[in-house]
Amino acid sequence: MRTPVIAANWKMNKTQAAARQFLADFLPRVAGLEGVELIICPPFTALAAVAEGLRGSRVGLGAQNMSEKDPGAYTGEVAGEMLVEAGCRYVILGHSERRHIYGETDQLVGAKVRTAVRHGLIPILCIGETLEEREAGQTDAVNRRQLLAGLEGLTAGEVAGAIIAYEPVWAIGTGKNCDPGEAQRTIAAVRAMVAEAFGADAAARVRIQYGGSVKPGNIGSYMAQPDIDGALVGGASLDPASFAEICAAAR
Ligand code: PGA
Repeated sequence: MRTPVIAANWKMNKTQAAARQFLADFLPRVAGLEGVELIICPPFTALAAVAEGLRGSRVGLGAQNMSEKDPGAYTGEVAGEMLVEAGCRYVILGHSERRHIYGETDQLVGAKVRTAVRHGLIPILCIGETLEEREAGQTDAVNRRQLLAGLEGLTAGEVAGAIIAYEPVWAIGTGKNCDPGEAQRTIAAVRAMVAEAFGADAAARVRIQYGGSVKPGNIGSYMAQPDIDGALVGGASLDPASFAEICAAAR
């Protein structure tokens, strides 16, 4: 009953010209694809070009970050209303690269999620443990802390409409994808945390993706898990053929 959702996180890759070239190759490959929600999240500078390129397609547009503030004197930041105007329906928030390279705290990520929801954007809230935390047996505790801070202040209905991406930090960009059975266990635990905090209905409806070294060759083993509703894809989303293969395998 949950529609699978596959999102491309291009990170700091692709100029406008490269983005247009990607779409020219990618869109025909997924034109007939039904039963899966597709999202592309380019860098801010390519949002307008990708919005234009996606017009008339079933692929949605997302940003990779957003300010928790309303417009004002915040040099270098981008506000929710600017993303909406650029054509975004989604925004990735709390990606581990934002948390660990740029020092975003759980509380800041929660404030960003609330701002996104206030603007009608669907947040893709990223959570996940580092290798050190996993080895110390803290995986579920870290997910709980990031999840509850990230969703703080939302109603059960707002949580039901959000997307959560479980991305173990050690699996991102390393080629060491998380064992699908373990990803299922972890994501089922996250869903149980949502049930505890926001009720069974929100938990049954919220979509939870896996992310971390997803490739055409392993997407099927994630989609076969009952609690995994799709994937957030970094490296393998940069190539139109490989991302289209992942999208097709997600139905
Ligand atoms: P990866 O990145 O697919 O390159 O591991 C995933 C992500 O960071 O969202």
